[in-house]
Amino acid sequence: MKKMFKILGFLLVGIILALGCLAAWVGFSDLPEYPVQNLDIKLPSDSISLARGRGIVENTCAHCHRGEDGKLSGRLFLPETEGFGEIWSGNLTRHPTLGLGRYQDGEIAYLLRTGIKRDKKMAGPFMMYPNLSDEDVAAIIAYLRSDAPSVQASAVKRVSKYSFLAKALIKFGAFKPLTYNNQPVLAPPKSDLVAYGRYLATAVYECSSCHSANFETYAVLEPEKSPGFFAGGNKIADHEFNYTTSRNITPHPEQGIGKWTETQFQMAVRAGIRPDGTILSVAMPRIPLSDEELSAIWAYLQTVPALETTVEK
Ligand code: HEC
Ligand code: HEC
Repeated sequence: MKKMFKILGFLLVGIILALGCLAAWVGFSDLPEYPVQNLDIKLPSDSISLARGRGIVENTCAHCHRGEDGKLSGRLFLPETEGFGEIWSGNLTRHPTLGLGRYQDGEIAYLLRTGIKRDKKMAGPFMMYPNLSDEDVAAIIAYLRSDAPSVQASAVKRVSKYSFLAKALIKFGAFKPLTYNNQPVLAPPKSDLVAYGRYLATAVYECSSCHSANFETYAVLEPEKSPGFFAGGNKIADHEFNYTTSRNITPHPEQGIGKWTETQFQMAVRAGIRPDGTILSVAMPRIPLSDEELSAIWAYLQTVPALETTVEK
């Protein structure tokens, strides 16, 4: 009997030591590193592509990267209270050592495809654009390299501090970068209204990721596989970290926008005004989309399955 207790005691101590080591490994060892590639890309220099790049950067990237100086110098993206640590978005200005001056063009493209930064670490699970067309990726980078006021060198330096939880999620592979598959990515032609609308709503302006059930279950590679696709229920923070639940924008007649007209939809997306005159929270970015883009997104949204909103606890 005594021997039995002794063995059990040793086992218990062993388990506690092993857990302690595991915790120390999660908490103190460096985050995993992944290989970086400098993709072979050619930047456009024509004004149409630059305008395209400006549209995407100023309407999507800027939402997370606009700093206090008005440039894309980075901002607090997640405060410590969220549990993942203190996460700052990066400095995307042309600063040679603190901004994107230190990246090769092809390294920026690789980061957008996979989520892997030039320092070989993963940029959290927030920075993956696998379905953006090669043309749009090149246009974005051309704009980031331009003389635009938003990207003039800014010396802001902020370093993210990942919490124990975030480190564990990354180290155990719950958050991992995407594999670069080296396949060309083409946008559908504008003449195919529904396909083009799908491209804009899922790959470019990310309506789908905010408007599905939540970011953790969002299927970035195949957005249609996301739970609650376009049925809302995701908690979205504004820049002061006040939360608003995203809305159902499927054609569901009661819970979604099934009874809206296209003009009402345009008012909501461009100006943030609902059909009943109420104003949308600023957690919903005011995106100045062109008429052409908005009608494509509208046409596409008519085709997504009408779902009921399920808000997870
Ligand atoms: C949902 C918010 C969000 C959006 C939208 C977003 N980013 Fe980021 N980005 C981040 C965060 C957060 C980080 C830094 C994560 C970390 O700590 O590593 C980051 C990091 C980066 C970095 C790495 C910077 C460095 O110092 O290594 C680049 C480059 C970048 N983003 C470019 C872009 C571009 C281009 C777009 C638009 C196509 C974009 N981001 C859109 C949140 C975002
Ligand atoms: C950063 C996250 C985010 C992105 C990106 C986003 N939305 Fe929203 N959207 C929200 C939130 C949050 C609300 C709810 C605001 C409120 O209730 O005040 C909302 C509300 C709406 C509404 C109003 C619905 C209603 O019933 O009142 C429409 C329409 C809409 N979004 C369309 C879009 C479209 C189209 C896109 C892409 C071009 C888009 N959203 C991108 C977060 C987002």
